[in-house]
Amino acid sequence: MTEEQLQIQSLAREFAEGELRPHAEEWDRDAHFPREVIGSLGELGFLGMLIPEEWDGLGMDTTTYLTALEEIARGDASVAVAMSVHNSLPTQMILAHGSDAQKERWLRPMARGELLGGFALSEAEAGSDAAALAAQATRTDGGWVLNGAKAWITNGGFGDVMVVMARTDTPGDRRGAKGIGAFIVPTDAEGYIVGKKEDKMGQRASETVGIAFKELFVADDQLLGEPGMGFIYALQGLDNGRMGIAALATGIAQAALEHSLGYAAERKQFGTAVREFQGMQWKLANMAVRIEAARALTHRAAAAKDAGEPVSRLSSMAKLFASEAAMYVTTEAVQVHGGYGYVKEYPVERLFRDAKVTEIYEGTSEVQRTVIARELYRQ
Ligand code: CAA
Repeated sequence: MTEEQLQIQSLAREFAEGELRPHAEEWDRDAHFPREVIGSLGELGFLGMLIPEEWDGLGMDTTTYLTALEEIARGDASVAVAMSVHNSLPTQMILAHGSDAQKERWLRPMARGELLGGFALSEAEAGSDAAALAAQATRTDGGWVLNGAKAWITNGGFGDVMVVMARTDTPGDRRGAKGIGAFIVPTDAEGYIVGKKEDKMGQRASETVGIAFKELFVADDQLLGEPGMGFIYALQGLDNGRMGIAALATGIAQAALEHSLGYAAERKQFGTAVREFQGMQWKLANMAVRIEAARALTHRAAAAKDAGEPVSRLSSMAKLFASEAAMYVTTEAVQVHGGYGYVKEYPVERLFRDAKVTEIYEGTSEVQRTVIARELYRQ
C-alpha cells in the first residue's frame, strides 16, 4: 500500500478501536445505532472518500476507501454497513448520473457527512428479482408522485436522503428493467413514511426499516438521469456496493481471527495453551489464508474500478468469496472458543451473527454466482 493508504488505514483503525469496538456489544444488545458516529465519520472524511474534491469529497481511490471500510467493520459491522451504503450507492449514483445542480444540492453535503444517504430498491416481493419492483412514479405537473413500499432499507429511518427506484412506465405499457427511474428523495418529504424496524439476527445496530411512499411529490429535478434508466443505474451502483460488502466481510473475519488468536494463546487444556495443538494451528492457518485471499480479490476489484475496467464480475467474485470466507472464519472462531464462543460474553458470537447477512444483502451469494456466470458466457 502507498504511504497515504497506510495513513488512512491507521486513522480508521484508531477510530474503530477507540470509538466503535468498545461499544459494539452494547449497541448489538440494544439494537441501537449510534447516530453521533455518523458525524465523526463525516469529520474524518469517511463519508466522501470516493467523491472528487470539487464536490467536497476526498477524491481517493477505491482501494484506500475499501481499506478504511474494512477497518471500520473490524470495529463494528453495523456502522460499516451504514458507511458502505452511503459511499457506494446513493453518492456514486448521484456522482455518475446527477446534474451539476443535483450535485450542488445533494452530493456536496453528502460528501461532507451533513446528509446521510440510503438506497431503496428492494420490496417485499422484489428481492433477488429486483426489476419486478412495483413502487410507482406517476407523472404530474412539474414532477412525479410516488406511491408504494420498500423493504430492508439501511439508513431508511434516520438517514437524510434516499435514492429510490420506482416504476416510471405505466400499467398499460410495462417496460421491465427499462421502465424504472431513480429519484432523490429527502426523508423529511411529506408522504415519506418509516415503517417497521427489523429485529435482526446480526448487524443489529444498523437500522433496517421498511418505508412507504404515500402521494409523495418529487420535482423533475429530483429524477436522476433518464426516467427509464434507474434500474441500470442501481445495478451499476451495486457493482460498487458489492466490493464494499466484500471489504466489510473481510473486516468481520479479521476481527474474528484476532479474537481467536488471543483466546487460543490464553486458553489452556491438557496442560498447554490450545494454540500448541496442531488441530488448532490448522484452523487458524485456514482462517488467515481465506482472509488474505478475500482482501486480495477485493483489492483486485478496486484496482479494476480505478483503472476504468468493467467490474461486475470482479465485484461479485469479491463479495461472494469474502462473505463466504467471513462465514467460514467466524464459524471456526466460535469453534476455537468452544463453549465460550457460544455465549455473548465473547465477541465471536456477535461476529458469527454479523457475518451471515453479508451472504444476503446487496445480492445473495446465489445472485453473485448468476452475475459471474453471465459474465463468463459473455467473454
Ligand atoms: N451495470 C449496468 N447494467 C447492467 C448491469 C450492471 N452491472 N447488470 C445488468 N445490466 C443491464 C443488462 O444489460 C440489461 O440491459 P439490456 O437489456 O439493455 O442488456 C438490464 O440491466 C437488465 O439486466 P438483466 O436482464 O440481467 O436483469 P435481471 O432482471 O435478469 O436481474 C440480477 C439481474 C443480477 C438478478 C439483478 O436483479 C440483481 O442483481 N438482483 C439482486 C438485487 C440486489 O442486489 N439487491 C440489493 C438490495 S440493496 C442492499 O442490500 C443495500 C443494503 O441496504 C445493504
